[in-house]
Amino acid sequence: MRTDRTVIITGAAGGMGRPFVERFIANGDTVIATDTSDDALAALTEAIPSDRLFVQTADITSEADGSALAALANEMRGQVDVLLNVAGFFPVQGFLDMSAEDWRKIVDINLTGTALMCRAMLPLMTGRGWGRIVNIGSASVNEGVAGQTHYVSAKAGVIGLTRSLAREFGGEGITVNLIAPGVTITPNAAKALPKQIQEAQIAKRAIQREETPADLVGAAFFFASPDADFITGQTLVVDGGLHMT
Ligand SMILES: NC(=O)c1ccc[n+]([C@@H]2O[C@H](COP(=O)([O-])OP(=O)(O)OC[C@H]3O[C@@H](n4cnc5c(N)ncnc54)[C@H](O)[C@@H]3O)[C@@H](O)[C@H]2O)c1
Repeated sequence: MRTDRTVIITGAAGGMGRPFVERFIANGDTVIATDTSDDALAALTEAIPSDRLFVQTADITSEADGSALAALANEMRGQVDVLLNVAGFFPVQGFLDMSAEDWRKIVDINLTGTALMCRAMLPLMTGRGWGRIVNIGSASVNEGVAGQTHYVSAKAGVIGLTRSLAREFGGEGITVNLIAPGVTITPNAAKALPKQIQEAQIAKRAIQREETPADLVGAAFFFASPDADFITGQTLVVDGGLHMT
């Protein structure tokens, strides 16, 4: 197992982010955790006391913020080994109620922001023969979701991003994979997604229980490990067997 890696985690202060941070810290890696709120990141460092956890606010849709984050990683460690793209935003809104601005905002955060983070970090990954990008997509792309057309479209785009980057950087020893979670009970998901959607998902799963962030940690850690050296461009659905692709 590789340890002492430099790991960048976006959306780190969100519901899913924290257990990811904990797992990489427990492995002896150095984590630069990023999100939009200073307060939320301060709460993260309080919850995970470690001299290997560093935080910096960044909006993933901002090229300047991505560059600043890359500069911090470069200054601290001179490289990035793992980029875990967790940041996302998933409001429920009818298609006919979506303005062009609404649509662009959701695509900007979920797809363009993820691409910009890859763009910012890849120069610190190339030239060393090893690197990992793990993107968090969504199993919702398998069946679509009424009321989340912008979000599901953006997450489908992240599959294309994942596959294309996998092809472009495979020769560098950099793998790019995607995890597609089902409805996962984080505070924001519990608020944003109607109870009927949550319950309908559970009813259709082979394993009929709530999905929690802890269910996703092993998959992300595996993709980031040398055990997954020959796996790239893949989507791993982690939803209790709702979708079997
Ligand atoms: N929870 C679910 O049911 C579920 C299901 C499938 C996929 N996902 C995906 O998993 C990821 C994490 O979801 P979560 O439930 O933890 O949500 P969350 O809202 O708790 O966490 C997402 C984090 O992303 C951050 N973020 C949003 N916009 C950002 C921006 N422009 N720049 C930087 N950070 C930004 C938020 O501040 C937040 O902390 C998201 O990509 C989401 O789309 C979630």
